[in-house]
Amino acid sequence: MTALPWGRRYLMCPPEHFGVVYEINPWMHREVVVDRDRAYEQWNGLVAALRSAGAQIEMLDPHPDLPDLVFTANAGIVNGTQFVPARFRHPERQGETPWDVQWFTSNGFTVDELPDGVSHEGAGDALPFNGTLVSGYRFRSDAASHAYLSRLTGAPVRSVELVDERLYHLDLTFCPLDDQRAIVAPSGWDSYARRVLEALVPEAIVLGDDDALAFTANSVVVGTNVVMPSCPPEVGRQLEAWGFDVAVCDVSEFLKAGGGCRCLTLALDVTLG
Ligand code: ARG
Repeated sequence: MTALPWGRRYLMCPPEHFGVVYEINPWMHREVVVDRDRAYEQWNGLVAALRSAGAQIEMLDPHPDLPDLVFTANAGIVNGTQFVPARFRHPERQGETPWDVQWFTSNGFTVDELPDGVSHEGAGDALPFNGTLVSGYRFRSDAASHAYLSRLTGAPVRSVELVDERLYHLDLTFCPLDDQRAIVAPSGWDSYARRVLEALVPEAIVLGDDDALAFTANSVVVGTNVVMPSCPPEVGRQLEAWGFDVAVCDVSEFLKAGGGCRCLTLALDVTLG
């Protein structure tokens, strides 16, 4: 077992302008009010938990017109000093891209773009596992983006068709723990994707529907620390048996927008291929 070679440096964005002002996934309801102070407290709690797990956090400036900018996982794909910006499915989030690109160019990254008209929502739909990039498609990312991603990054990409619109991004169904183990929510995948992942992941913690819908897989792994939005007892026991330490962070304000701990972070220390 080898610990993940990435996951010690993250980009995050303070929830200064976070809110549910449009509806682009089944969790979002405009009439639900976000408690901004509570969101801030929860986000600060997540930052503190990640730091005490040994992670370094970089900050992206918030923007008054971009309420979902807090979900930095969707900014794009990081590969060494290469950054492939997302092409968001929904116009509501497309304004984030120039803002993200500005951060990456001024922080020493080279930007390589996917072609026009092909959607891909960054690390929210793509996570490295043991030398391959596992990438989801259907609700937010197009299957056609995967070949381009592979060409741009040099990484072999395994495509996973997502089938449950409540689990609309890959990172709600898949959480790599090390090079052999992952938390998985197969109810979010079609039957072929289930077989692909079964062959790829030798040891998995398999979530039932309720735990998947509580965003248990939307966790951040920092070495042997797992920072989770929720952790059912059996999952916690298995993680501890494997030598992981679990920290649960209440991110309920962000769940109102359909995002959990992982969505609020973008790993900056990823090298693919
Ligand atoms: N409201 C955001 C959206 O629907 C939430 C993004 C969640 N991000 C993630 N990586 N799953 O786009």
